[in-house]
Amino acid sequence: PTIHVITPTYSRPVQKAELTRLANTFLHVPNLHWILVEDSQRRTPLVTRLLRETGLNYTHLNVETPRNYKLRGDTRDPRIPRGTMQRNLALRWLRETFNSNSSQAGIVYFADDDNTYSLELFEEMRSTRKVSVWPVAFVGGLRYESPKVNAAGKVYGWKTVFDPHRPFAIDMAGFAINLRLILFKPQAYFKLRGVKGGYQESSLLRELVTLNDLEPKAANCTKILVWHTRTEKPVLVNEGKKGFTDSNVEI
Ligand code: UGA
Ligand code: MN
Repeated sequence: PTIHVITPTYSRPVQKAELTRLANTFLHVPNLHWILVEDSQRRTPLVTRLLRETGLNYTHLNVETPRNYKLRGDTRDPRIPRGTMQRNLALRWLRETFNSNSSQAGIVYFADDDNTYSLELFEEMRSTRKVSVWPVAFVGGLRYESPKVNAAGKVYGWKTVFDPHRPFAIDMAGFAINLRLILFKPQAYFKLRGVKGGYQESSLLRELVTLNDLEPKAANCTKILVWHTRTEKPVLVNEGKKGFTDSNVEI
């Protein structure tokens, strides 16, 4: 199957570095289709060029998150969903591009632009029948969060401290979905409104599966194959108000 990797992205000093790192990972993965969705009014020249130059199989989309959803200053409001409209646009694109009786086997994975992905992760998710799950490092104030798997290999709960009673207490990087399921449930999207912090993943997954359907990967969820890393903001104070370096040089 083709792995459709959905990545929301937005303009900031480290954007090109993040996308370069991601592209370098994806270039090692067979049969990958990158759906990169810019949070912007237009598709930007920076991202357009970068995609073209990677040689990856990709689709370049854009949708701007309305201002009232955007972060103000540096304060993070956990109720403001990041990347949600972009992921939903990619889901719509998949449904418009493939129809449910198409023989196109596919897997859908949401890969944020700042995380770290092992190559093994993509081989694990390739056999997803409905929804597969695995641990994610550096989330929820823990070394890693993980689905709880019993001796029979069934997921029966969540090893998290933050709200383990969420229907699906799992980070965006911790699951993959079979494309067939996305096409069979055309109304399933991430909810934009009224979603408490940490409930975004549940808002989609509860439309698609129950706990009983989940397929644990990564050696029954005992291996870490993805890290929720976050990139430090570079210090650019010496640029001053007018900018010190040549603004025509793309970073
Ligand atoms: C955590 C989760 O890992 C995300 O999957 C989830 O979207 C997010 O919280 C949330 O619900 O707010 P975190 O590291 O805090 O992630 O978020 P970011 O990595 O900053 O953003 C997630 C994705 O959205 C990234 O790919 C980022 O490029 C994109 N994004 C962020 C936008 O497209 N627009 C923005 O204004 C901000
Ligand atoms: Mn992140």
